[in-house]
Amino acid sequence: MNQQVKDLSRRAGETVTVSGWIAALRVHARVAFVVLRDGTGVVQGVLVKSQLPGDLWELATSLTQESCIALTGVVRPDERAPGGHELTVTGIELIGASDEYPIQPKEHGVEFLLDHRHLWLRSSMQRAGLRVRAEVEQAIHDFFYERDFVRIDTPILTGAIGESAGTLFETDYFGDPAFLAQTGQLYVECACPAFRKVYCFGPTFRAEKSKTRRHLTEFWMIEPEVAFADSNDNMELQEDFICSIVARALDRCGPELEVLKRDLTTLERVQPPFPRISYSEAVDRLNAEGRDFEWGRDLGAVEETTISSWFDRPVFVYNYPKGAKAFYMKENPDDPRTVLCNDLLAPEGYGEIVGGSQREDDFDRLLARIREEELPEDAYDWYLDLRRYGTFPHSGFGLGLERTVGWITGRPHIRELVPFPRLINRLKP
Ligand code: 4AD
Ligand code: MG
Repeated sequence: MNQQVKDLSRRAGETVTVSGWIAALRVHARVAFVVLRDGTGVVQGVLVKSQLPGDLWELATSLTQESCIALTGVVRPDERAPGGHELTVTGIELIGASDEYPIQPKEHGVEFLLDHRHLWLRSSMQRAGLRVRAEVEQAIHDFFYERDFVRIDTPILTGAIGESAGTLFETDYFGDPAFLAQTGQLYVECACPAFRKVYCFGPTFRAEKSKTRRHLTEFWMIEPEVAFADSNDNMELQEDFICSIVARALDRCGPELEVLKRDLTTLERVQPPFPRISYSEAVDRLNAEGRDFEWGRDLGAVEETTISSWFDRPVFVYNYPKGAKAFYMKENPDDPRTVLCNDLLAPEGYGEIVGGSQREDDFDRLLARIREEELPEDAYDWYLDLRRYGTFPHSGFGLGLERTVGWITGRPHIRELVPFPRLINRLKP
């Protein structure tokens, strides 16, 4: 019967068949070793020339890296072998031969690897990173499901600018302009009066000209929205949420984090409460350190890295100046130059992983903000309706999946944490 490699420990002494791809092959005069990867693990097959029937030795020694084969053999426990057992091979079937494989066990340039992303996915670091991503995605759904949030799928084609006019992908929608969603937020807000606690989780698009290690043009975002929650409640939910997904990764992704050589001590420190610092306090402290940072500007990557270096865990920076943030954030009644919002900065220079805010629930103020930002008013009549028909205090946030998984896995660039990254210069594969 065809077995999965991960189950072989229960099959010691039995003859099994496993199918997969050749990760490595070493041929000596009388013995050959083939490392087979089947997607659930790797197992080494040992082929002894004198014990193989007929012309199987010929076949075995002509195999190439990444050929797809089925190996039949006896499972033998061996503590030194990866996975704790080896296969003494008695049969080989070639399923799909591989041409000379472009990715070799040597240093390749990153552009070369990205050109071969469809093959690079098979490499151990990439498999580990994407498996952590999948675990985190599941942890996210579980977190919200357990807390009675209703998942709302928001549209990808939209007529209203969700965040800012500068980074829109525009397309033709039967003669009218349409945009790829920058966020699902405006739509999940509308689902609050229906379900109270909601979230969306989908791809979002930004025509960001930035060529940095934390920008993609297509990334996945999780956006919860909660009725009757204020900005403080919002930060508490973020704290719970981050602690929960990091704990889940530590609990379930030990082998992957080891492959990635992740230093776990900083992840183990991700415990509540997270420090909180207001934007204004942060600016004072930056200036006290001689940074010459002007109040009113948005924080950039450099400032974020400095601020997070003051703390040993993720840090909330709250109440930014109005001009640095999106139109929908609620004015701070105690200081109308600012809005009730927060960013959450990850440690180790990973920067902003969450942006959140209390929403402007006052019709007139929201309309004034839409006008101030010169957004097309008629595209927002439905969004304004939320303030016409039973307005209510509410808050929410967006967590960038790739940035979060980039930080959890400790990878230098978030492009590795999405199966097929979209970057300014890259639409292929
Ligand atoms: O801070 P942002 O722009 O917030 C929003 O979109 C709100 N509508 C969220 C909400 O309140 N519902 O983006 C949220 C997060 C950022 O903190 C970052 O993690 C990620 O999305 N992000 C990006 N990730 C990768 N590449 C990009 N170009 C990103 N832009 C934002
Ligand atoms: Mg932001």
